[in-house]
Amino acid sequence: MTVSDNILQKSERITFALRELFVQSGFTRYRMSKFEEYDLYAKNKEFLISDNVITFTDSSGKLMALKPDVTLSIIKNSKDNYGELKKLYYNENVFRFSKESGEFKEVAQIGVECIGGVDSAAVCDTVKLARESLELLGGDYVLALSDVDIIKTAVCAAASGSEARERLYSAVTLKNRDAVLDIASGEYAEMLVSLLDLRGSVKEVLPKLKEILAPLGSKECKEEFIALLESLSKFDSSDKITVDFSVTGDMNYYNGTVFKGFINGISDTVLSGGRYDNLMKKMGRSSKAVGFAVYTDKLDAASKETDDRDEFVNVAVPKGRLGEKVFDLFRSAGIDAPDMSEASRKLIFQNGKEKIRFFWVKPTDVAKYVERGTADIGIAGKDILLEYEPEVYELADLKTGICRMVAAAPEGYKDDKSRALRVATKFENIARKYYRTGGRDIDVIKLNGSIEVAPILGLSDVIVDIVETGTTLKENNLKVIDEIAPVSARLISNRASYGFKGEKIALIAEKLTVASGDKK
Ligand code: PRP
Repeated sequence: MTVSDNILQKSERITFALRELFVQSGFTRYRMSKFEEYDLYAKNKEFLISDNVITFTDSSGKLMALKPDVTLSIIKNSKDNYGELKKLYYNENVFRFSKESGEFKEVAQIGVECIGGVDSAAVCDTVKLARESLELLGGDYVLALSDVDIIKTAVCAAASGSEARERLYSAVTLKNRDAVLDIASGEYAEMLVSLLDLRGSVKEVLPKLKEILAPLGSKECKEEFIALLESLSKFDSSDKITVDFSVTGDMNYYNGTVFKGFINGISDTVLSGGRYDNLMKKMGRSSKAVGFAVYTDKLDAASKETDDRDEFVNVAVPKGRLGEKVFDLFRSAGIDAPDMSEASRKLIFQNGKEKIRFFWVKPTDVAKYVERGTADIGIAGKDILLEYEPEVYELADLKTGICRMVAAAPEGYKDDKSRALRVATKFENIARKYYRTGGRDIDVIKLNGSIEVAPILGLSDVIVDIVETGTTLKENNLKVIDEIAPVSARLISNRASYGFKGEKIALIAEKLTVASGDKK
């Protein structure tokens, strides 16, 4: 009996097709229960997307968890065996905390793990299988490839000390060239920037990549990655496999090749994987592993309408004070839309010739539009990026809208350490993080504006807020007690959009960077 196609949702149909592909490729099903001892996650928190896990106590008093992840359980139940390559696939639901909705979600996951004698041929086969899986999902797709060991080697050579190295690694993940050059210097910092600028199919980037990686000599990670790309370039005639060095994974777990898959029209990663020998080691195994997962739920959420969004680069621009500066900058860069400067209530403007569309949104919402892919790119203040930590690329510091995030208090203020400090702010997360680092217990009072009034009326002891000219603080008899972070407008990009419109987006970034330099 066959199940009629129209009863199944897209994700269900694709799940069956993927299972068939995995079985044909020699993988056997690995089934597991929904529960796992919590201890496994407590020990491997950084490997999980969120360390928020649903727990309960079983009848013997043991703390259990509803599985937020499948890979850790598979490794836990595996034995070292070098001679053999175990090829397993799974099709399970996991329970994950969504930062965005603040709730737990049951998420469908289907994926493969190769464990044991993983060599470069097994890695290459896994990448090919990931590409075939994306092909099955339908639509335009790219599989973006990178190598964690190459990034780690460059990061370690370009910065010293674990704190600087972590910041540098994270700057690479965010495609943040400015931060890379801020934190690091020398030929390896330049190498990282050149790696971030690299875009295109494996065939296109190979010659350039060999040049960029010259400082690595004949290091194993370089040789292996180049060899992988060379064999993939023969297999991938349709140029769907690209190289993108902002694709990373936690550096304590992943090593070697990592990859992410994107489907045009879906704002988020739909496939993610890589080699994770380090995780194996951390869990007491000396054999190797590589695998990937496909997030099928995301396929049902994709917009079914066909619109002209693909043709345009869609830009979210902030209204208000920052908006005027940003608008000036776009105009100086020669990127404009007719009527955009007119004082009207219209919120969407487009330049049909240049295929660029702008929409004015609230400054605090820009990052949301970009994270969800409604806008391909946007301009957001660093304050908003620090507060909401959206999963977007930070392509350029536009050196406009410059201000500072500070802690401020009334003249003559003295901290009474015998009680929690009352902090009024629009920026809850920034405030919490700042005072947590200082070890100070606080009571956050979230306000939506006119923050300076709070300490004057006794609602709070201090404020955490933005200072531009300093006039508001001065006129309200407040003074800066600490500088938290410099703030300026940043060009941000949706990660999937960058995969499909990278060329156009990079050109806009370049024009805006030049214009912002001219304005200085
Ligand atoms: C911001 C900020 C300060 C003020 C600082 O408020 O929250 O209140 O600007 O600028 P200054 O240093 O140049 O005086 P905004 O204008 O966004 O209004 P809000 O009070 O409604 O948040």
